[in-house]
Amino acid sequence: MIRLGNLQIDAPFYQAGLAGYSDHAMRVVAREHGCPHCVTEAMLDHFLIAGGKARHAAEIPDNDHPITGQLMGSNPHDIARGAAILADLGYDVIDVNLACPVKKIKKKARGGHLLSATDTAIDILKAVRDAVPDEIPLTVKLRRASDDSPEAAQRFFAIFEATIDNDYAGATVHGRTVEQKYIGPSNWGFLADLTQRYRDAANRTGTFTIGGSGDVWTARDIFRMIQQTGVHWVSVARGCIGNPWIFRQARALLDNNPDEADRPPTIHEQRAVLLRHFECSLQLHGEIPASKMMRKFGIKFARHHPRADDIKNAFISVSTLADWHHVLDRFYTTNGPGRLADPENATQNAFARNDDACPTPG
Ligand SMILES: Cc1cc2nc3c(=O)[nH]c(=O)nc-3n(C[C@H](O)[C@H](O)[C@H](O)COP(=O)(O)O)c2cc1C
Repeated sequence: MIRLGNLQIDAPFYQAGLAGYSDHAMRVVAREHGCPHCVTEAMLDHFLIAGGKARHAAEIPDNDHPITGQLMGSNPHDIARGAAILADLGYDVIDVNLACPVKKIKKKARGGHLLSATDTAIDILKAVRDAVPDEIPLTVKLRRASDDSPEAAQRFFAIFEATIDNDYAGATVHGRTVEQKYIGPSNWGFLADLTQRYRDAANRTGTFTIGGSGDVWTARDIFRMIQQTGVHWVSVARGCIGNPWIFRQARALLDNNPDEADRPPTIHEQRAVLLRHFECSLQLHGEIPASKMMRKFGIKFARHHPRADDIKNAFISVSTLADWHHVLDRFYTTNGPGRLADPENATQNAFARNDDACPTPG
């Protein structure tokens, strides 16, 4: 059982915040496949404070709990106001983003760039703790440092320890530096050293829960990361885009059912999920935005189908619900075995040069 303060989560993995993807629709589909906990994409404090569309979008339907609301901002005062808004909206956990590698805007550091501004980062952590009622657990998402220098490592540890000292319930660390963005591997060795130092750390919330992130492509990677690094739980990010079955497979591994864990989704299972995801997206966004959104998901879903390349091309031109049904009728009517999305097919480098991995939400 994973604990974040008083919240208990019954499996050691969760769906990460994924800007541009992890909306309510993606979260519902993940939960229906066994995902025990989801994180929103990073929400900017000043959009929440301004109210309107972004604040409305932050509201959580009843079937979307437990959920972490993730916040990003540049100064303690505004981010604390944003945190108070998320607390009012009923988020089960509030997470501070100190990880996003997108460059500074108007010279203000935010996200991962706060790892270079130790004092501001720590002031933010304190201000958020002060603004949120004690019973709502807080967490933080970090990269392993801003860069590979010894000074950056020192700053990371100062911020990490401040997280524990300020009664945060946990932290997830992405084993890449901010400078690295998505290029090169996530350093699991760093995660192993971190847990050796802090795995038994505790504060007023109980044991400090450490999460690991980076290069989790399959259900087996989740447990490999736990075994190799000692993290308490694992954030599933690019590995679950167009692949909610990763959660079903991870549950199967927990149940000692390797056959089910290695079974790819059948064509008809894929069809059912594609329909379900579109239906949720349609309710959330309306037809044209949902069609655009589902186009990028469709491309990822396609890799489970034996005719992946043809389907990718077909999804690329989807712009209406009718187009979507047309692709499904063409490729997903006859049942048959699907394919496991192995790392080679997982387009794992698709984001490698993408500076916009967490685009400005709102
Ligand atoms: C498109 C995209 C959007 C992301 N958005 C967020 C975000 O909003 N918040 C966050 O904490 N991490 C975000 N991340 C980072 C992921 O949660 C994760 O830490 C990272 O992708 C490393 O894990 P992976 O190698 O298993 O994908 C994003 C990553 C991608 C690729």
